[in-house]
Amino acid sequence: MTLPGLLRQFTFNGAATLETDEAGIAYFVNEYWTSGQRQGHNLHEISYRACFKPQLPEFFITRLTRPGDTVYDPFAGRGTTPLQAALMGRRPVGNDINPLSEMLVRPRLESVSLDAVVKRLHGIVAADATGADDALTVFFHPATLGRIRAIRAWLLQRAANGELDPIDRWIRMVALNRLTGHSPGFFSVYTLPPNQAASLTAQRKINEKLGQTPPERNIDEIILKKSRGLLADGSPREHPAALFMTGPADRTPELRDRSVDLVVTSPPFLDIVDYGGDNWLRCWFAGIDPATVKIDRHRDVADWEAFVRRVFVELARVMRPDGWVAFEVGEVRGGKILLERHVIGAIAGLPFEVAGVMVNQQSFTKTANCWGVSNNRGGTNSNRIVLARRL
Ligand SMILES: C[S@@+](CC[C@H](N)C(=O)[O-])C[C@H]1O[C@@H](n2cnc3c(N)ncnc32)[C@H](O)[C@@H]1O
Repeated sequence: MTLPGLLRQFTFNGAATLETDEAGIAYFVNEYWTSGQRQGHNLHEISYRACFKPQLPEFFITRLTRPGDTVYDPFAGRGTTPLQAALMGRRPVGNDINPLSEMLVRPRLESVSLDAVVKRLHGIVAADATGADDALTVFFHPATLGRIRAIRAWLLQRAANGELDPIDRWIRMVALNRLTGHSPGFFSVYTLPPNQAASLTAQRKINEKLGQTPPERNIDEIILKKSRGLLADGSPREHPAALFMTGPADRTPELRDRSVDLVVTSPPFLDIVDYGGDNWLRCWFAGIDPATVKIDRHRDVADWEAFVRRVFVELARVMRPDGWVAFEVGEVRGGKILLERHVIGAIAGLPFEVAGVMVNQQSFTKTANCWGVSNNRGGTNSNRIVLARRL
């Protein structure tokens, strides 16, 4: 089958796919998956800046792989792709330059029992309520902060001794997710959503504006409640052993040549997300120095294209012939820059064939310009996926 033929075959609800050609690139628009129709597995339910919905990797894993195949995300973030791969009995492989990513992904690929989490929390008794971090009382009640510090100290000590086990890793993952947020389900007073930590100064202003002081929270109860929610659909079924790497996406020596069947990924979009700034409090809890995490941010689109090309050179090495890459990009600069075209530019001359660009249109209308491709004027927020086959 021709590659466009394959894309024509791709439908979610049987609706016809709208095809159009823009600057020599074939675009395919359809409602390929919908967010409203069905929730993903509960284990996905942690927040991360610029994450995609589980329906996106599920769509490609279903159509382009078989159980036992290897599914990889070089920019894994919260791990939507590797987790969905594990849930579908594929081999989950992930990488991210941010060490927080592995802390968020790995525990959800292992299984833990709620009883074990309760017991472990009861065992963490040391109080560490004083220290240099008092500035954090802008987010937390002093008693709450004491408990957070005790759990943090326990985890850092266990990590230093090489003693972290799946229960510790689970507690760390849940705590990282509950640190700050905008409801009583988080450890903090009302603040930004959990994937975006406010600075101390910004939080002071939020507190002044709302006339609030951090209320005392029951940390252990919050951890258990979130654990119950995450585990409500069970742990992943049996799957081939996972591999998770922490490093730059263009240098992954742990991955063997031709070992990957499918890549589903989404890189940083130019410089629009400040991962370091957003994650400073999570890094504090996890004992990571954000200055050592070299997140790629490129203001200049030519630099971004060169970065994407370096990643594709590495993907050409690790992918098997006939394997697929689904590379998702979002809208930037109000639609003035069409990143998918720069992805296609980045691939030129490498051993990949571009099948086209898929646009998932939520409420599908048959208007060719509705997603802002033809007219370069600000479009909608439809994300685009470049689908390419390794030759
Ligand atoms: C758009 S997010 C991916 C989100 C992911 N799809 C999810 O569902 O959670 C991009 C990720 O790329 C990571 N990143 C940035 N530069 C990187 C690099 N050079 N190598 C590997 N990862 C990098 C960031 O830490 C961030 O987690």
